[in-house]
Amino acid sequence: MRKNLVVAIDGYSSCGKSTLAKALAKKLDFIYIDSGAMYRAVTLFFIRNKVDINNEESVKDALQHIELNFHARDYESHITLNGEEVSEEIRQMPVSENVSEVSANKLVRHDMVKQQQRMGKSKNIVMDGRDIGTAVFADAQVKFFMTADPKIRAERRYKELLSKGDNVTTLEEVFENLAHRDYADTTRKESPLVRAEDATILDNTELTQEEQLDFALEKVKPFLEKI
Ligand code: DC
Repeated sequence: MRKNLVVAIDGYSSCGKSTLAKALAKKLDFIYIDSGAMYRAVTLFFIRNKVDINNEESVKDALQHIELNFHARDYESHITLNGEEVSEEIRQMPVSENVSEVSANKLVRHDMVKQQQRMGKSKNIVMDGRDIGTAVFADAQVKFFMTADPKIRAERRYKELLSKGDNVTTLEEVFENLAHRDYADTTRKESPLVRAEDATILDNTELTQEEQLDFALEKVKPFLEKI
């Protein structure tokens, strides 16, 4: 039995996992880990260095030259790739368009999962992703599986891109990208996105952020006394 408390949040792209995870971590004073940011940072490295994802040796070699670190600032997670802050760049479309292929790679997943398990070995954490409750921490005490209407998800992500100054990408492109990633995430061979049997479903199409946080806190509360 683990002594530290792990809250695993899995679900589809852009359905508010990281917003809820951050709010929960802040409220509980837990560490927040955005596992998707790790796959995105690896993808950025692969794009920049023209790593051939189909060449096992190139992938192995690239992974040895990647160092990822999180720097928590007010529960926002900032990620560095070999010392460079890349939190903004990994959210841009070039990375979004390539991350499914990179994150489906067995060697990449193996490396990321090992690092994620190390991060949650002894600390209280909230980690969000696609395989946290099923593979990374199958023994997490609290698991959520988040979902929301695909149109609402695309609108949310589109607004986020606009607010960051991206006025090139259209709403249709965002919608297509999400649909593509949903398909890729749920059908890939390695750790596909699937709800863990013991995960609580949280459909937030019509829920405010406060309502989601209250809902999640209720589920976590019974476990707080045990840590
Ligand atoms: O959560 P996100 O959209 O930032 O994740 C980016 C991509 O990384 C997503 O398309 C699927 C992949 N991913 C994954 O395969 N496993 C995780 N634990 C987290 C993300």
